Amino acid sequence: MTTTDHLIRPHGGELVDRTGERPDDVEALEQITLTSRELSDLDMLASGALSPLEGFMSREDYEHVVEEMRLGSGLPWALPVCLAVDEAPRGDRVALADETGRPLAVLDVRESFEYDKQHEAEQCFRTTDAEHPGVARLYGQKPLYLAGRVTVFERAEPSFPELALDPVDTRRTFAERGWRRVVGFQTRNPIHRAHEYLTKVALETVDGLLIHPLVGETKSDDVPVATRVECYRLLVDGYYPADRVLVAAFPAAMRYAGPREAIWHAICRKNYGCSHFIVGRDHAGVGSYYGSYDAQLIFDDFSPHELDIEPMFFEHTFWCTTCGAMASAKTCPHPAEQHVFLSGTKVREMLEAGELPPVEFSRPEVAAALIEAYRS
Ligand code: ADX
Repeated sequence: MTTTDHLIRPHGGELVDRTGERPDDVEALEQITLTSRELSDLDMLASGALSPLEGFMSREDYEHVVEEMRLGSGLPWALPVCLAVDEAPRGDRVALADETGRPLAVLDVRESFEYDKQHEAEQCFRTTDAEHPGVARLYGQKPLYLAGRVTVFERAEPSFPELALDPVDTRRTFAERGWRRVVGFQTRNPIHRAHEYLTKVALETVDGLLIHPLVGETKSDDVPVATRVECYRLLVDGYYPADRVLVAAFPAAMRYAGPREAIWHAICRKNYGCSHFIVGRDHAGVGSYYGSYDAQLIFDDFSPHELDIEPMFFEHTFWCTTCGAMASAKTCPHPAEQHVFLSGTKVREMLEAGELPPVEFSRPEVAAALIEAYRS
């Protein structure tokens, strides 16, 4: 067997595995139906993507995370991973089910506790504005959090089975390929030239690249995941060396928590075996809630080696017509008129009108796939 000992250690030291046998009495247990965000979290608890968490957070962990971005043990952790319910269950075990009523897991009830939604919003999202998609979801949640260790006996059906790699799988693949230093790239958008540039610049300095698109729930105006996955395939097939890149699905739901989500994303990618993690402009941001580089500055809240995974920061990148290359303010001296920059809204308008965005913005294959998706 290939050893993975040379890779970065999982967060907290050990990769958690919360998969297990289906108990005989599951049908007799009180059943709780999970939201799509909670289902994503459950699946990540099962696979160890959220190591060292073994279940939905206790009050102690929750309060420490909200107040100071640490678990009760003091280990860094940036966002709550909680299960919201209407009332405390009667028994000491409950079944957790998907929206069709199919039981997937059992939770050993530790406690249930009240929480302050506004306070959680202010601390985690830096806003209490109900227009913020993450805050809106939080405000819509049930009033109590239910904590306890989970045992998952039925994993969620992956939307892209060929991309469904758990942390043990990505770690094994990295080891088989002889990679030690691996950079992870989070994205919820189709990959454009800017993303390609960041990932390739980062790859120049490490052994391998994990393109790790988020495939859990996103807000309704983000590009649908099936279209995005098609774009990742086209880009990687056409423009990346196959032996240096792995594309896998990150099953999380988007929180749009900007800075705190950048830390959370990095910790999860550490569990998948990444030693480095790309954080560019307005990572996991939405609207104008966060400053362009807030998601980079927040890494300074931790001492240099506490997170272990190394963030790789990038300035806002663009195509410069004079340089004839991708660049950023760090590497290009030319004025803004010479920079090709298109807002997400502008790109959507072009695609809806059947117009290809310029090659300086998007590879033609990717643009064509997007136009096709918009047509249908
Ligand atoms: S995110 O919500 O997943 O962060 P997106 O898919 O747009 O959104 O971005 C993926 C990563 O690329 C993030 O780290 C983001 O900061 C970075 N990024 C996206 N576009 C640019 C750009 N033009 N310049 C620099 N970094 C960028």
